Amino acid sequence: MPRKYLSELCTGADMASLWALLGLCCLEAPMVFSVPPIESQPEQVHISYPGVTRSMVITWTTFNKTESLVEYSMWGGKLFDLKAKGTSTIFEDGGSEKRKLYIHRVTLSDLRPGSAYVYHCGSEAGWSDIFYFTALNESTTWNPRFALFGDMGNENPQSLARLQKETQIGMYDAILHIGDFAYDMDEDNARIGDEFMRQIQSIAAYVPYMTCPGNHENAYNFSNYRNRFSMPGDTESLWYSWNIGSAHIISFSTEVYFYLDYGVDLIFKQYEWLKKDLEEANKPENRKARPWIITMGHRPMYCSNDDKDDCTQFQSYVRLGRNDTTPPAPGLEKLFYLYGVDLELWAHEHTYERLWPVYGYKVFNGSTEEPYVNPKAPVHIITGSAGCREKHDGFIPKPRDWSAFRSTDYGYTRMQVLNRTHLYLEQVSDDQYGKVIDSIWFVKENHGVAAWL
Ligand SMILES: *[C@@H]1O[C@H](CO)[C@@H](O)[C@H](O)[C@H]1NC(C)=O
Ligand SMILES: *[C@@H]1O[C@H](CO)[C@@H](O)[C@H](O)[C@H]1NC(C)=O
Ligand SMILES: *[C@@H]1O[C@H](CO)[C@@H](O)[C@H](O)[C@H]1NC(C)=O
Ligand SMILES: *[C@@H]1O[C@H](CO)[C@@H](O)[C@H](O)[C@H]1NC(C)=O
Ligand SMILES: *[C@@H]1O[C@H](CO)[C@@H](O)[C@H](O)[C@H]1NC(C)=O
Ligand SMILES: *[C@@H]1O[C@H](CO)[C@@H](O)[C@H](O)[C@H]1NC(C)=O
Repeated sequence: MPRKYLSELCTGADMASLWALLGLCCLEAPMVFSVPPIESQPEQVHISYPGVTRSMVITWTTFNKTESLVEYSMWGGKLFDLKAKGTSTIFEDGGSEKRKLYIHRVTLSDLRPGSAYVYHCGSEAGWSDIFYFTALNESTTWNPRFALFGDMGNENPQSLARLQKETQIGMYDAILHIGDFAYDMDEDNARIGDEFMRQIQSIAAYVPYMTCPGNHENAYNFSNYRNRFSMPGDTESLWYSWNIGSAHIISFSTEVYFYLDYGVDLIFKQYEWLKKDLEEANKPENRKARPWIITMGHRPMYCSNDDKDDCTQFQSYVRLGRNDTTPPAPGLEKLFYLYGVDLELWAHEHTYERLWPVYGYKVFNGSTEEPYVNPKAPVHIITGSAGCREKHDGFIPKPRDWSAFRSTDYGYTRMQVLNRTHLYLEQVSDDQYGKVIDSIWFVKENHGVAAWL
């Protein structure tokens, strides 16, 4: 209806004819306004792999209490012939309004690996749109594809459009968001968090969206992060691990080294957990099945940026630990080295940087000709340039000798774990309309600490 006509209708003189019009409709059908109340309408739908075979967790938000239901079916089958029920928790934001969100979680189990499913979530008080996902193929010879990035905000999310399209056409099996969401989720009484979770639904409702906390999540002891995501394990998504293809992926919090007010003990708790997890992953039968050990944490140990961040210091807390705590807190470089971690993924710096294999500030190329073929130390990738209101970071003019490639373009990284020996990485530039600006083949015939010798 043209705007002019509408406004004419509403000017008193014509109100009578409007009512007449409505009245006419009501003769035809009973007047029932069954639009679901917005408070009960599911939103911010996202999925994650719970680290339990054949399952997937669906997470969403409502603003009033409702049931937590998912109706789903195999792609092409009878729509919604399967049902699962979960639970909701009340997340009270720490802001002045103390806004309450109901966070719903439903675990779908007994999924058939490699099969596509369609689903919607909600309750009789309101249902989401229809989404779809593919249950993870659990073969250790499967070759999963990932998009990796960090530091993506509600404002200026440069990589979002490309990631939406590439996810929806099936280019990725999982997303790794390496900390720093929304800028910041707690802002405006957590409305920025809501807005961001709505923005990423176009990715995160279709493939497992796996996360780790960053410094921008620090408000109220990381409560928006801990409550909104549903990562494996029982640490409120702070540290956990999971298996996919021939990779064992470990996600952890670098932030325990920086927000001591939330508990120095968290450094030690996490460290002990990491050690146990790495020990388990290195048991011969496990390392044989899943030879790649990949870590993701927000703040890097190394970087050649020109800010004063932890990674610009030789005495990086993440790398070497802290000696101003009681007792002194161990860093992570040595731990990861001793358990033969292959690849370490980071963000925080709003740039992309690839390092030569490095340990203790020294480069350990496989060979000068082929540095990434049987390297003698872990490889680090820093990918924190998906775009946020803080824009870019800069580099020091002369990179250190462990720095192999750097770019200040907005973008993200693609990774494919091909088989037990081959892993491929490439960097996409949004500034250059999706051009691949860097790529490496990472080849390891041996994994584990013995590979360093
Ligand atoms: C939602 O919850 C609020 C606060 O409890 C209540 O006032 C309102 O009536 C509820 N709305 C619906 C549609 O249930
Ligand atoms: C899982 O991946 C393996 C290795 O690529 C493949 O042989 C197998 O057919 C896949 N399974 C399913 C159910 O797609
Ligand atoms: C912060 O949250 C962590 C994880 O839930 C918890 O272990 C810790 O005790 C909390 N710290 C404070 C000061 O509340
Ligand atoms: C303790 O840490 C400071 C700064 O992080 C560093 O300069 C110093 O060398 C460290 N001391 C020891 C004994 O490791
Ligand atoms: C590592 O390999 C790269 C690429 O060949 C080379 O530029 C660099 O100098 C090497 N570093 C060392 C320490 O051998
Ligand atoms: C692993 O994948 C690479 C790249 O596709 C291939 O060249 C290599 O032969 C594969 N290795 C095995 C053991 O399948």
